[in-house]
Amino acid sequence: MAAVITGWGKCVPPGILTNEDIAGFMDTSDEWIRTRTGIHERRISHVDMSELAYVASCRAIAAAGLEAGDIDGIILTSASPEIIIPNAASRLQERLGVRGIGAMDINSGCCGFVYSMAVAHGLIATGTHKRILVAGAERLSFFIDWTQRDSAVLFGDGAGAAVVEAGPEDEGLLAAELGCESEAGSALMIPNFGSGMDRWGPDAGRLVLQFDGQEIFKRAVRAMCSLSEAALDVAGLSLKDVDLIIPHQANLRIIESVGKRLGFADRADQVFVNLQKYGNTSAASIPLALTEALEQGKVKPGALILFPAFGAGLTRAAMVMRWGQRVDPINTSPVELPPCELSARELIQTSLDFCREGIEAVR
Ligand code: UT7
Repeated sequence: MAAVITGWGKCVPPGILTNEDIAGFMDTSDEWIRTRTGIHERRISHVDMSELAYVASCRAIAAAGLEAGDIDGIILTSASPEIIIPNAASRLQERLGVRGIGAMDINSGCCGFVYSMAVAHGLIATGTHKRILVAGAERLSFFIDWTQRDSAVLFGDGAGAAVVEAGPEDEGLLAAELGCESEAGSALMIPNFGSGMDRWGPDAGRLVLQFDGQEIFKRAVRAMCSLSEAALDVAGLSLKDVDLIIPHQANLRIIESVGKRLGFADRADQVFVNLQKYGNTSAASIPLALTEALEQGKVKPGALILFPAFGAGLTRAAMVMRWGQRVDPINTSPVELPPCELSARELIQTSLDFCREGIEAVR
């Protein structure tokens, strides 16, 4: 049995932080950010990650024509859970008001959604599950060091979700290739956060984001291409069969390089891009992009879709999916985020003060 996506949804918080906003307090410019990354703006959340996941999930469940009680498993993928014990998927389950079903977290950086889809496929293929909710959500603004201009301009908050059900053999997830380049993990790492952190030292609470953008860039292009080819190979298909590429949204230059190497230079309209609005939302990026591709009519019935990804780990992944016949949601959900009175610039002020001046600035 194949794992078919029958519902999809997204949730982006209302606070928009533009490149100009960032250039107002950091040595950067709208021009640099647009030309080096393709990003114009990103969202800053006023709620926890699992609340973003909750709203996206309600929308995905409604789009599948289901109710939360119909779901028999929850996979939540995120690198920015608001809580570690218990797992964030259990918080999502509680918000959804369902009881008893399995709920697991997957932390695989920007590849989280592809990893999670592979797990959901396995659970459905073994027959133990029928309808799994896979949500990818991030509140990466929590981790941003607003004094570090190379990484601060890249990331944003948001969520996307999918309902995965058993479907016909020739539809849904046809192949998924997963990998990890752990030898280069320090290129994107927060080493002082987790049970290994120094809780009492002078730098307690100050997160250090180790970031080597060029190293990630090179590896991302190489791996997204090779895993795409490998996944297509496993599915017995070729790049010519692909109707749409929905890549992880990290940097427009990465997406364009991958598109070019995969032979899509003249088929740029078949490579979906929405990072100009959201920046890199890590595990949320692919389900958010998939939802917008559907909303914009880019996913045609029966389309073959390729999803390449690369991120912290350094994880790498690609999946190939044959879309079904339905490209419209069955229902919509009335669930919304609570309103926010503050602008995105105001939402980050405390974090900005802390990053610049330390704990005394915010006590
Ligand atoms: O999902 C995976 C997560 N990781 C990523 O997405 C990161 C992938 N990497 C990238 O997207 C790119 O490497 C970056 C956007 C991070 C950087 O682009 P780049 O073309 O690799 O720039 P660079 O690191 O080679 O830096 C070029 C110059 C440097 O100045 P000098 O040394 O040439 O004078 C940087 O200091 O650009 C400078 N720079 C900036 N200037 C203005 C770096 N960040 C900024 C900035 N504004 N925000």
